[in-house]
Amino acid sequence: MKIEEVQSTTKKQRIATHTHIKGIGLDPNGKSFDLAAGFVGQNGAREASGLITDMIKGGKMAGRAILIAGPPGTGKTALAIAITHELGTKVPFCPMVGSEVYSSEVKKTEVLMENFRRSIGLRIKETKEVYEGEVTELSPEETDSVTGGYGKSINHVIIGLKTVKGTKQLKLDPTIYDALLKEKVAVGDVIYIEANSGAVKRVGRSDAFATEFDLEAEEYVPLPKGEVHKKKEIVQDVTLHDLDAANARPQGGQDILSLMGQMMKPKKTEITDKLRQEINKVVNQYIDEGVAELVPGVLFIDEVHMLDMECFSYLNRALESSLSPIVIFATNRGICNIRGTDISSPHGIPVDLLDRLIIIRTETYGPAEMIQILAIRAQVEELTVDEESLAYLGEIGQQASLRHAVQLLSPASIVAKMNGRESICKADLEEVSSLYLDAKSSARVLQEQQERYMS
Ligand SMILES: Nc1ncnc2c1ncn2[C@@H]1O[C@H](COP(=O)(O)OP(=O)(O)OP(=O)(O)O)[C@@H](O)[C@H]1O
Ligand SMILES: [Mg+2]
Repeated sequence: MKIEEVQSTTKKQRIATHTHIKGIGLDPNGKSFDLAAGFVGQNGAREASGLITDMIKGGKMAGRAILIAGPPGTGKTALAIAITHELGTKVPFCPMVGSEVYSSEVKKTEVLMENFRRSIGLRIKETKEVYEGEVTELSPEETDSVTGGYGKSINHVIIGLKTVKGTKQLKLDPTIYDALLKEKVAVGDVIYIEANSGAVKRVGRSDAFATEFDLEAEEYVPLPKGEVHKKKEIVQDVTLHDLDAANARPQGGQDILSLMGQMMKPKKTEITDKLRQEINKVVNQYIDEGVAELVPGVLFIDEVHMLDMECFSYLNRALESSLSPIVIFATNRGICNIRGTDISSPHGIPVDLLDRLIIIRTETYGPAEMIQILAIRAQVEELTVDEESLAYLGEIGQQASLRHAVQLLSPASIVAKMNGRESICKADLEEVSSLYLDAKSSARVLQEQQERYMS
């Protein structure tokens, strides 16, 4: 199994509408403040989420599932984002939306399986022989190219490494020079080079240089202790899907047709069940030997009512496997049909799956809370809004929805600018709210003018 050079396949997603959420915002006793970490109100749900984060951190939650249920715009997705912030970067978190499973190329259960494996982390600890230190010199030695021409080729690289205890000069192979270039190593950086593989890792900038005026965020690290040449414990965090992807071979055989196919399409790798079983075997062996540790992460499935019976029954089974993450579902549906069937069920989720879930409820916001959330949003979007307008916006939010009120902020700021003002006032909001309908008013218009529309 390949574990060196495993590339992370972490999904990146736009969460711009939730940028103000920095965490759940609980005090050390697990009680919630009314406003903390960008989160307003919703105290019960936040305390419940806090407990769950603690359990996840303690490794006590694997194979369980949570449902966050509540009306639209009550902060369900925001709550899930807050939980990730609390968990930190070491615990894998994989967000997805129910409808992602409907792709014409991949089976529904395959999408779920892949995301399950993205949410299970493996922390591999290895003791390796390394050369570590602060780079004191870095000079490639060139010779005239043997292949002729004008180019020069690099014969070897001389690198000086310094630790608290001593310094050492190494003569390295040119392939390592490429690795040094790739990691953008410069004099004054702290690095280590693995003796066996020649892999180079830049740890950070030596803190002797911390006084330099630096615009870019840099991580400063102390000068390594001990000798330059030593044994070092190296910790690597990967997910099971990273391992799957790194060990999968590109799809297609050797015949002409598939070769043609590969030329036209970007290379696609196929992860087979067999491969996954093989990886599981090795992983379990690593865990038994104490080389690796399982880090169950979180799979967040938003809009879970979009899943159908096939997916739900798959989930039931997957939750029972020994390599299972914590699954958080979210939905804003009440009692409705399970997708693709005419069976009606709470939240559109089959009762046998519901039975396994613990449910966190989110409540609708009162005017004061809404105004607070709007004020935070305005601040994040760098808009100035006076008290009166915020109160008016809060009213709009109460009548329509919180989302609608938030969405009116940016057009209102443009109207304000057109009127030559920097800050938004009530007149701007009145103008934009007469321009844009919210969902409820639009439905009312449809009802009133039914005969004018096609049906
Ligand atoms: N308690 C809160 N504190 C701060 N911001 C909040 C809070 N609740 C919601 N928000 C913000 O309001 C907006 C809507 O909330 P969110 O998207 O989480 O709703 P939702 O419950 O997931 O709705 P839906 O059911 O429609 O998916 C987001 O920008 C979110 O960050
Ligand atoms: Mg949501």
